[in-house]
Amino acid sequence: MSGSGGTREKSENANAMWGGRFEGGASDIMAAINVSIGFDKRMAAQDIHGSKAHVAMLAAQGIVSAADAAEIARGLDLVLGEIEAGTFVFKDVLEDIHMNVESRLAELIGAPAGRLHTGRSRNDQVATDFRLWLRDEIDVVLAALKDLQFALIERADAASDYIMPGFTHLQNAQPVTFGHHLMAYVEMLERDRGRFRDCRARLNESPLGAAALAGTPYPIDRTMTAAALGFDRPMNNSLDAVSARDFALEFLAAASINAMHLSRLADEIVLWMSAQFRFIKLSDAFTTGSSIMPQKRNPDAAELVRAKIGRVAGSFTSLLTMMKGLPLAYSKDMQEDKEPVFLAVDALMLAIAAMAGMARDMQPNRQAMLAAAKLGFTTATDVADWLVREHGKAFREAHHIAGALVGVAEKRGCGLEDLSLAEMQSVAPEIDERVYAVLKVEASAAARTSFGGTAPARVAAAVKAAKARLLAEEA
Ligand code: ARG
Repeated sequence: MSGSGGTREKSENANAMWGGRFEGGASDIMAAINVSIGFDKRMAAQDIHGSKAHVAMLAAQGIVSAADAAEIARGLDLVLGEIEAGTFVFKDVLEDIHMNVESRLAELIGAPAGRLHTGRSRNDQVATDFRLWLRDEIDVVLAALKDLQFALIERADAASDYIMPGFTHLQNAQPVTFGHHLMAYVEMLERDRGRFRDCRARLNESPLGAAALAGTPYPIDRTMTAAALGFDRPMNNSLDAVSARDFALEFLAAASINAMHLSRLADEIVLWMSAQFRFIKLSDAFTTGSSIMPQKRNPDAAELVRAKIGRVAGSFTSLLTMMKGLPLAYSKDMQEDKEPVFLAVDALMLAIAAMAGMARDMQPNRQAMLAAAKLGFTTATDVADWLVREHGKAFREAHHIAGALVGVAEKRGCGLEDLSLAEMQSVAPEIDERVYAVLKVEASAAARTSFGGTAPARVAAAVKAAKARLLAEEA
């Protein structure tokens, strides 16, 4: 054998599966750039299920004999058994999962194996495998997201009346409840699950039987194979069937948005863990220490969840760029479609699991949240609303008065509730004792009873509704 970059002798090295017209073997570099078994073996089970559906259809249509089909199906089960047992030997020289399986099938059952690839191509085969694989993974992601929603709902339920500062611009804005804050993420995750479900519904069409690109002269039954594999229907156009990868892009787009949501919550966990916030504690289970600073407890899991968006959105960009400008139908570029999706799925699953773990682990610090809610004059809006309600002021004027009160308190270095009535009346003489009730952060939150608002009663109802909605879904 020649060195790197040389060609090999045909006798041993011309590809056994497609090498009919080839004189010599591939150069080592060619083999290295061409090989995909290192990653596409991840679709082994789907490849075998697809082949079993295909050969059953070939027999039903009289394209192969029932005896050969039975032998092929038996052999495919043996191959699957070897793969599951970890005894299957994956060979780089056989390039990809499709040819590894078919070659082993031939070793196990001999001649009938050669009839399996009738009326199909690796182009429709790989598209079929990939859709089946992604469909399975979407189901796993959907279940994991639902688990995370339950974890957040439980946490929100226990903290539906914990008062914390709500922020805009990361400045204290108005008091909200911790439960309300967590339920906001439950809503985001609900839309994320909707996107994954939409993606699953759209991808659930069968490319199998499109063959290389143009269809096949054999009297195949694509509806039969589609049904056997749980697809809703065969894809309409054979060129589209072998060249479409928008299903994977749609998944990656949904995954990117989901990872972005997880990243936002992860960032809040990092903030809440800090000495400046102290809103939550995470146990040893989801934190690490420092090798130099003995006092440290670092929120590494949250930071890593915050970071995973990089891989996921990077995968979307990677596949989108790869597909851009590709002519119809199949091009080998498309072999590079799988790794970004595998990478994204792995990153997302880990991020969702870590987030669910942290949601269950976190201990909210009610006192710290309450103390923080009182900082930054968070009830100034309530004073303005009170002037409108009780004294018939126009909101603009009331806003002005409340702003002036904040100015006085700021100068004195105290909260609004610490101002004496005389001090308040020097700003607006009509202010009376009753104003102190609306200056309380608890009252501020409790007053926000509008639909979707932060009042504890609203949050408790939202928790109940979300729980019922999730439980009502079929498993
Ligand atoms: N390993 C290939 C892929 O992942 C399978 C399809 C190969 N088709 C071909 N015409 N060479 O895309």
